[in-house]
Amino acid sequence: MTWLITGGAGYIGAHVARAMTDAGERVLVLDDLSAGFPARLPADVPLVEGSALDGDLLKRVFAEHAVTGVVHLAARKQVGESVAQPTRYYRENVGGLATLLEAVAEAGIKRFLFSSSAAVYGNPDVDLITEDTPCAPVNPYGETKLTGEWLVRAAGRAHGISTVCLRYFNVAGAAAPELADTGVFNIVPMVFDRLTRDEAPRIFGDDYPTSDGTCIRDYIHVADLAEAHLAAARRLNAEDASGDLTVNIGRGEGVSVRELITVIGEITGDRRPAVVEARRPGDAPRAVASAALAAEALGWTARRGVREMVESAWQGWLLHHGGRSSG
Ligand SMILES: NC(=O)c1ccc[n+]([C@@H]2O[C@H](COP(=O)([O-])OP(=O)(O)OC[C@H]3O[C@@H](n4cnc5c(N)ncnc54)[C@H](O)[C@@H]3O)[C@@H](O)[C@H]2O)c1
Repeated sequence: MTWLITGGAGYIGAHVARAMTDAGERVLVLDDLSAGFPARLPADVPLVEGSALDGDLLKRVFAEHAVTGVVHLAARKQVGESVAQPTRYYRENVGGLATLLEAVAEAGIKRFLFSSSAAVYGNPDVDLITEDTPCAPVNPYGETKLTGEWLVRAAGRAHGISTVCLRYFNVAGAAAPELADTGVFNIVPMVFDRLTRDEAPRIFGDDYPTSDGTCIRDYIHVADLAEAHLAAARRLNAEDASGDLTVNIGRGEGVSVRELITVIGEITGDRRPAVVEARRPGDAPRAVASAALAAEALGWTARRGVREMVESAWQGWLLHHGGRSSG
């Protein structure tokens, strides 16, 4: 059994590669290094440098390495960029996936795991988001993830491939400092970046209908997320695993922006008060997963809390940024 992890040199992919190799799975990574770093990979994991959009390369890799399952993480992931460059996002995230699934079907590979996102839901007005909550993405990035899910399930049915789509909620933290997220696109690194610049953290809107007026999100430690991939791979490895599964990966617990900034202040020792700015268009007041299906179908539940996420992310920030701001 050999798993190909696309995007395996990225933030989440490297955690997945480590969790799977630690658990004894044979793993190979394909990454074009547009946003990834080879140094994140365990020494015994081979890296093929190239694009998941390159059908000929995929065929060669599948044949040469006798790949039996694919974990597809390679994608563009910035919401704002997807609004500015929708055709690029559709080409890379959806077109690339179609190329990959064609190669998977042709190679006779029967297991496929897809990185989806809570962005498929848009802004539903519910307390807990279940997998049955209607999907209505509000930006091209979310649209490419929802279209990707449709494509994965349709190709699975047509070609007898067992599939799992994991809808990640807000990912944070690091299993080790060298694996940390080096981008400044999510709230935890964004607050670190502000503090490092000697600026106050920003809160976009404190007049939402929530307990403290700030937006509520479901944060998931990347090490827990990696273990969810392992559980999904094990399900796909099982002889009787067939069909498709689409499942939320979150903790089922909401944390407000203000609460998160308080924890960041305690851990960094920089407790300066946040400044409140205008709401950002498109921000949902609340987005919290129901984690029930993941527990039932994968036997997986998140174990790590927000404090552990922030502590580990801060160690990674210090390693990569050394007290300097990102730019
Ligand atoms: N980080 C989050 O909070 C989050 C939340 C929900 C979903 N996701 C999804 O998880 C996946 C991984 O995200 P991440 O945060 O690790 O991002 P990342 O940018 O750190 O990792 C993506 C990796 O894919 C590689 N890559 C991109 N396009 C490629 C291509 N065409 N061929 C080969 N490699 C390519 C990049 O070099 C990078 O190593 C993405 O699909 C993303 O949409 C992330």
